[in-house]
Amino acid sequence: MQINIDGINFDAPEGFTVIEAANFLGIRIPTLCYQEGLSPWGGCRLCIVEIGMADKTKLVTSCTYPVEEGLRVRTTSERIVNARKLILELLISQCPTSKKLQDLASEIGLNRVRFHPKWENCIYCGLCIRMCNEQMMAEAIGFSNRGREIKIDTPFQENSEVCRKCGGCIYVCPACTLRCDGPRPENLLCGGCSNYQPLSC
Ligand code: SF4
Ligand code: SF4
Ligand code: FES
Repeated sequence: MQINIDGINFDAPEGFTVIEAANFLGIRIPTLCYQEGLSPWGGCRLCIVEIGMADKTKLVTSCTYPVEEGLRVRTTSERIVNARKLILELLISQCPTSKKLQDLASEIGLNRVRFHPKWENCIYCGLCIRMCNEQMMAEAIGFSNRGREIKIDTPFQENSEVCRKCGGCIYVCPACTLRCDGPRPENLLCGGCSNYQPLSC
């Protein structure tokens, strides 16, 4: 499959997704619900890229979009960066104490969050569930409830007899592994340990 990512021609194997091709070329695309070795879910949309040419372009999630012959991909257009910032704004308003989210905010140059904070501990990316199901083969946790009541839980909210206490779910979680204690009340951002340069548009 001959594709072009950010001007680089690449002969991608059939079955590759766009993010796999980008990773192979060393092109960084920010992600939250994608983890190598786990099935892609396409939930957070942070990994969006722009495909197509001229006025026929569209945004797709690179972790789920399969490569196809002649595909042209841009990973850092102004449209992408603006969309990523909005997505991240919403996620940070949900979970301002996630260091991973704060680091991503620094990386993409997000400097304001306009939405009311919810101070939750989860962004519902589903990584913990896929880790438990697909790598630990335990199926100990899952989504329960819907809409605003959604949460990650064990069946019937009871202590699990199948959980192996392996910690895999915590290891992959973008909200519980490392906490950020410094989000400023006025814009919910911290930036205290930011070491990143914003992506160029
Ligand atoms: S600690 Fe339990 S719930 Fe978490 S991944 Fe391991 S088996 Fe699954
Ligand atoms: S607990 Fe963590 S890994 Fe699981 S859905 Fe929430 S943010 Fe994602
Ligand atoms: S990383 Fe692709 S949608 Fe979340």
